Formats: sequence, structure tokens, C-alpha cells
Amino acid sequence: MPGPDDILRDFGALLREGAILPREERAAGPLRVGVDLGTANLVLAVTDAAGRPVAGLTERSGGIRDGIVVDYPGTVRAVRRMKAELEARLGEKLLRAATAIPPGIHPGAAKAIGNVIEAADFELACIVDEPVAAARVLGVTDGAVVDVGGGTTGISVLRGGTVLASVDEATGGTHMTLVLAGALRLELAAAEAMKLDPAQARDVFALVRPVVDKMAAIVAGVVDRYPTLDTVHVVGGACSFEEFGAVFAARLGRRVIKPAEPLLVTPLGIALFAGEGR
Ligand SMILES: Nc1ncnc2c1ncn2[C@@H]1O[C@H](COP(=O)(O)OP(=O)(O)OP(=O)(O)O)[C@@H](O)[C@H]1O
Ligand SMILES: [Mg+2]
Repeated sequence: MPGPDDILRDFGALLREGAILPREERAAGPLRVGVDLGTANLVLAVTDAAGRPVAGLTERSGGIRDGIVVDYPGTVRAVRRMKAELEARLGEKLLRAATAIPPGIHPGAAKAIGNVIEAADFELACIVDEPVAAARVLGVTDGAVVDVGGGTTGISVLRGGTVLASVDEATGGTHMTLVLAGALRLELAAAEAMKLDPAQARDVFALVRPVVDKMAAIVAGVVDRYPTLDTVHVVGGACSFEEFGAVFAARLGRRVIKPAEPLLVTPLGIALFAGEGR
């Protein structure tokens, strides 16, 4: 029985290779699509009816800021283009999609996110909270799931499969880039490139560490309300640094687990909700 990390690695391989899961290996039933409209990345995830990854596509985002659509036509065009590309790969139409929002955003902003999906000719299945989507992939029913993306840190606390709290604060990977740019007097693009260079990861982490501490403080503010909560799962691109988990664990005094492919957990989780809301 493959675990979440195996499934995430499979999805990562499909996405990077531009490959698809062959039809004969898929469960019968309609394909499910998850559309993650992130601040840094747009990701489309396709699974079969049993939740097995079938295909995926990602591109840089420009029209979304912390769950707010700031370039509506540009984002719709991007999602349409990505949908068409996946349909061409799969040789079939993609009909139904779920999407997600950072927890606690304004209902009007959530509506705009849903409108993007419909304007890209998807039937909108539902809109879920990002960390809740991630929790579904990871099989977490008890614990906290933290999504540290480009723009925000989102936290959902689950007990017995029920969401007890969902919180989102504006601190993410973009803030790390800003701190790096400020410290080294770099242009933002140069700072972002440096941040993503594995050869410089140690030096970079030393400089962005205060942002990680801030993220951990945000998470502590939520999880400390739940003294019996012992495990925190971290996902999202900004947790990619090797030392990230240790810094979080020290600050939170709890076990911190980082899955394989942290950038892909939330997008894949969103697709798992596309079968709902019928
Ligand atoms: N290897 C890496 N090391 C450090 N940071 C990384 C790495 N890979 C990606 N990131 C950062 O992760 C962020 C993107 O993560 P993700 O795709 O989860 O965000 P998003 O979903 O677009 O944003 P949000 O959820 O906040 O709207 C960017 O700030 C990016 O620079
Ligand atoms: Mg995200």
C-alpha cells in the first residue's frame, strides 16, 4: 500500500516529466482536477477517481496575492492554457475542478477565486481551505497542518478529522526573498535565484532564519491553544530548506514532519476534493 510520500513522489515525477498515468492503470470514473492559485505558483493536479495522480502542470503565478485575484484576466488565461495543455496530454476533456483559499480570507475574495475556475470552463466542485487539502493527502486527522507558501503561512488544526481552527497570516517565501535582498542589497530577482540555489542554501538559511522564526511564532500562536496536539506537518515551498523542520520543532516543542514534494501537497489535496459537492 503506497503511503503519502510515495504518492507525492509519483505526482512529482509525472509533473516534471510531463507524463501521464496510462489509462489502463487508472481507476474507473471521472478524472478529478485541483487548481491551486498560489501567490508564487499556479498548479493543476489531475487524479483518477481513486485519488491516484494522473498528471500535473505548474507555472509561475503573477495574478494572485495571498488568495486575492489581482489580475483576473491574466489568471483566467493561464488556467485555460494549462487546462488545454493537460487535456491535450490526456486526450480527454477535464470537466470538474476544486480549488482552495488561504483560511479565513474574505468571502468576496473566495468568490473571485471560484470565478476564475468557472471562467476557465471548469465546473466548480468546491473551494477548500489550503491546509485542509494538504491534510487530506497526508491522511492527517489529528494534528496541525501548516502551509508555508509564497505569500502566507496557513495553519489548520484537526481533531478526529474535524477542523478546529484555521488561520492564515501574511508571512511566506516572498518575505524570505525580501529579507535576503535587503541584507545583501540584491535585486529581488537575484535574491529569489540565490534563495533557490541549493549550493547557497546554508548561507541563505542563516539570513532568512528570522522569517522562519516569525512563521514558527505564528504557528505557535495557534497550536499552543491545543496542549495535546503533538505533531505538526509542514508543506508549501517555503519549508523546502533542510533546517526548516528543526527550527520549527525547537520553537514549537512538537514533532514536525515534512513530506516528500512539499510544493505539491496542497495542489494534489485540492484534486481529492473535486469528487465532492455533487
Ligand atoms: N527549494 C526552495 N528553497 C526555498 N524556497 C523555495 C524553494 N522552492 C520554492 N520555494 C519558495 O516557495 C514559495 C512558493 O511556494 P508555494 O508554491 O507553496 O506557494 P504558493 O502556493 O504559490 O503561495 P501561497 O500559498 O502563499 O499563495 C516561493 O516563495 C518560493 O521561492
Ligand atoms: Mg499555496
